Amino acid sequence: MASVILGILLVLVPLPLSTEAQTRGNLTLGSSLTANDRNSSWLSPLGEFAFGFRRMGRGAHLLAIWFEKIEDKTIVWSANGGDLVPEGSKVQLTADGLVLTDPRGRELWSSSLNVTGLAYAAMLDTGNFILASASHVNLWDSFSHPTDTILPTQQLDQGTKVNARYSEMNYSAGRFLFILQNDGNLVLYATPTPLVVSDAYWATNTVGIGFQLIFNQSGQVYLTDRNGIILSTISEDPVLISGHYQRAILEYDGVFRQYIHPRTANSSSNRAMGWSMVSSTVPPNICTSMRRHTGTGACGFNSYCTLGDNQRPQCHCAPGYTLLDSTNAMNGCRQDFVPQSCDGSRPEKDQFALRDRPNTNWPYSDYEVSKPKTEDWCREACLADCFCAVAVFGDETCWKKKIPLLNGVMDPSAGGKALIKVRIENSTLTSTGSGQKKNKNSTLMIIGSVLLSSYVFLNLLLLLISYLIYKSFRSRDSKFSRPVQINQATHMRTFHYQELQEATDGFKEELGRGSFGTVYKGVLGSKDTNFVAVKMLATRTGESEKEFEREVNAIGQTNHKNLVQLLGFCNEGQHRLLVYEFMSNGSLADFLFGSSRLSWYKRIEIARGVAQGLSYLHDDCTRHIIHCDVKPQNILLDGSLAAKISDFGLAKLLMANQTQTTTGVRGTRGYLAPEWFRNMPISGKVDVYSFGILLLELICCRKNYEREAEMEAQIVLVDWVYDCYRDGSVLVLGEGDEEASSDMRRVRRFVMTGLWCIQEDPALRPNMNKITRCWKELLKSQYLQIQPVL
Ligand SMILES: *[C@@H]1O[C@H](CO)[C@@H](O)[C@H](O)[C@H]1NC(C)=O
Ligand SMILES: *[C@@H]1O[C@H](CO)[C@@H](O)[C@H](O)[C@H]1NC(C)=O
Ligand SMILES: *[C@@H]1O[C@H](CO)[C@@H](O)[C@H](O)[C@H]1NC(C)=O
Ligand SMILES: *[C@@H]1O[C@H](CO)[C@@H](O)[C@H](O)[C@H]1NC(C)=O
Ligand SMILES: *[C@@H]1O[C@H](CO)[C@@H](O)[C@H](O)[C@H]1NC(C)=O
Ligand SMILES: *[C@@H]1O[C@H](CO)[C@@H](O)[C@H](O)[C@H]1NC(C)=O
Ligand SMILES: *[C@@H]1O[C@H](CO)[C@@H](O)[C@H](O)[C@H]1NC(C)=O
Repeated sequence: MASVILGILLVLVPLPLSTEAQTRGNLTLGSSLTANDRNSSWLSPLGEFAFGFRRMGRGAHLLAIWFEKIEDKTIVWSANGGDLVPEGSKVQLTADGLVLTDPRGRELWSSSLNVTGLAYAAMLDTGNFILASASHVNLWDSFSHPTDTILPTQQLDQGTKVNARYSEMNYSAGRFLFILQNDGNLVLYATPTPLVVSDAYWATNTVGIGFQLIFNQSGQVYLTDRNGIILSTISEDPVLISGHYQRAILEYDGVFRQYIHPRTANSSSNRAMGWSMVSSTVPPNICTSMRRHTGTGACGFNSYCTLGDNQRPQCHCAPGYTLLDSTNAMNGCRQDFVPQSCDGSRPEKDQFALRDRPNTNWPYSDYEVSKPKTEDWCREACLADCFCAVAVFGDETCWKKKIPLLNGVMDPSAGGKALIKVRIENSTLTSTGSGQKKNKNSTLMIIGSVLLSSYVFLNLLLLLISYLIYKSFRSRDSKFSRPVQINQATHMRTFHYQELQEATDGFKEELGRGSFGTVYKGVLGSKDTNFVAVKMLATRTGESEKEFEREVNAIGQTNHKNLVQLLGFCNEGQHRLLVYEFMSNGSLADFLFGSSRLSWYKRIEIARGVAQGLSYLHDDCTRHIIHCDVKPQNILLDGSLAAKISDFGLAKLLMANQTQTTTGVRGTRGYLAPEWFRNMPISGKVDVYSFGILLLELICCRKNYEREAEMEAQIVLVDWVYDCYRDGSVLVLGEGDEEASSDMRRVRRFVMTGLWCIQEDPALRPNMNKITRCWKELLKSQYLQIQPVL
């Protein structure tokens, strides 16, 4: 991370030495500049623009023209296709024009002149660099060979191209192109080599009449015909602002934008102002402008585009997909899982689920359309079809889409809801917890693991280390300057807020929202698969820093395969965040109440996992932790659909003094034990109660409370289950579930356990330990087919 930031800084920060000017005015034949760390550029007479080498990184330079008086020395033109040249390269004004050579004298680029008579060259105050004859005829000028930027007084003739750069800091040619074609049409293309008209995503439709594109002195950009009549205005708002620098640029995201910058001599204030965008852009919304059957669109393949608040397009991977190039979101995404097999002998339908994205579409990726259909039909059809990567449903129509997905867009106008197929098990993207811990801080981790594995030493060491850490926390004076800390007793890392902000790309991708705060997806380190879940705690209660860190450390000390592992935390000013391992399959609620149902055996596995996790929290871990909010939303599933409990310990952490006797109600309605409402002592039995409800939901694959149940008696699951159990008709509960129906003995036992857990009197409920012990025998025979008990 640090090296990446450093790298970015190196590129962003203008390097002072190389930009100082040496020469002003006319340049005679033979003049040259060398790419090195000394000052090497040619200035315009008033010093507005400079031509020369810009250092772009260690030993790499760009031959360019830039605004000399603007703090960030914005580049407006570059030679050599924007490619960097090595240190020691040289540009020389020869009789044949400008020639750029590498340190060994090999020609890299030249301003090929077809005519003779070159007398001098000059950098002009308009930003144009000219090669002229003795009679002042321009033989070559940079305005006629634009890269991605045009400036006031610049005119583009037919046949001139403006090519966007590759990325914000990479000046090499990217894939977007702006051309005033020889046929008179001014067109934006999303490919550097347009083949057909349909590759265009914007055009003035001025075939036969368009003649010249003009950026006039007062800041208007417009297309004229042969007689100078304006055919089309590109910048709609008049920018008659004197005292401003201006530029218009086809940016790397494919949008043509115009910018202004105050022309004040006071460099500290003009730096603060920076470039501001003139309101209209071309096209206004690039996400919805891409209507092409080929090519990568505004974003790359398998991604979708949204227009951000800043009117800039943002590219996102579809769920289940990750960036091909983690440094460039516009390069598209790849599937993170093994695609569905088309081998008919092993249908994998149950191994896939659909993730919903509202208002999302990939136009032009269709291979099948069906109408009129229901959404359920559409879901089933896509799941059953190995070619279907995404189905888009809208207006009673089901479109099946194939890989790669083109021109993805999320926009209210997209016309449908995308159902994206993802593999729910055996995904290549398994939980990253352990792998990531190995990468990071490996020595400390190994020491930690060795210590932890030796239970004899554990307690002593914990005491000692906690004391040391406590001391180090006390003695630090600045939180911002402290190095990354690792709590050796718990393997936990202390993160800086900024670090997490970067890891989550500014808290962009929300994974979920709970009573304690919002969870975001993040990536740690340079490997783009080191996913983590970052929880931003919503409430900041009165507890002191010391208490907070003590509680967090207690959570970090828990270590069980059915608990989501806490990797670290951030406690900086107002910011309190927890960093957890990432669970690729989301929460149990998505699978239990969604359209795709988990198999009976998976559900049993999950029930067992949750019971074991809770049993550990209540009895085995060093501090007995009451969860207080057990519910499907807090049970996460890893890559192999194993259950992991999340959010444990937070009730204590965020609502101190509320564990034993309390009047405050915590948790979620529907899963709450009666004692919460009765001013009774709160014990681990509240979790047992919630577990009972969860278990019944797992058995029946439905919510405890379902207003739209078929029969009134079925609205409240608990009541219905109890009635069925009392009447001896448990079989009814497994209806429509073949596997459960053929395993009635265990269905009955689980129902009994569930009802046992939800008794009014906490004393009559079992504890979690007892449940796991009782289930041991029951679960041994998991894969045996048991005769239905009728
Ligand atoms: C540059 O040369 C041209 C032609 O010789 C001349 O007209 C012009 O004044 C010169 N400019 C400067 C700044 O010397
Ligand atoms: C570079 O520019 C600075 C500031 O104008 C000047 O002091 C220095 O002598 C220049 N160095 C060279 C090698 O021209
Ligand atoms: C330069 O001249 C050559 C031959 O005279 C011609 O083929 C080429 O198109 C010319 N190039 C330009 C840019 O005018
Ligand atoms: C810029 O992007 C091009 C195209 O991917 C690549 O070849 C080149 O190495 C990049 N340049 C830099 C300086 O990263
Ligand atoms: C620039 O173009 C606009 C729109 O045609 C016009 O109103 C304005 O007078 C022009 N300015 C100059 C300096 O030519
Ligand atoms: C330049 O800006 C600074 C800070 O904004 C201000 O104090 C100073 O007076 C300004 N100087 C001029 C010449 O405007
Ligand atoms: C996961 O998939 C791979 C390849 O498709 C297969 O070899 C492996 O047995 C699968 N693992 C499980 C647990 O299903």
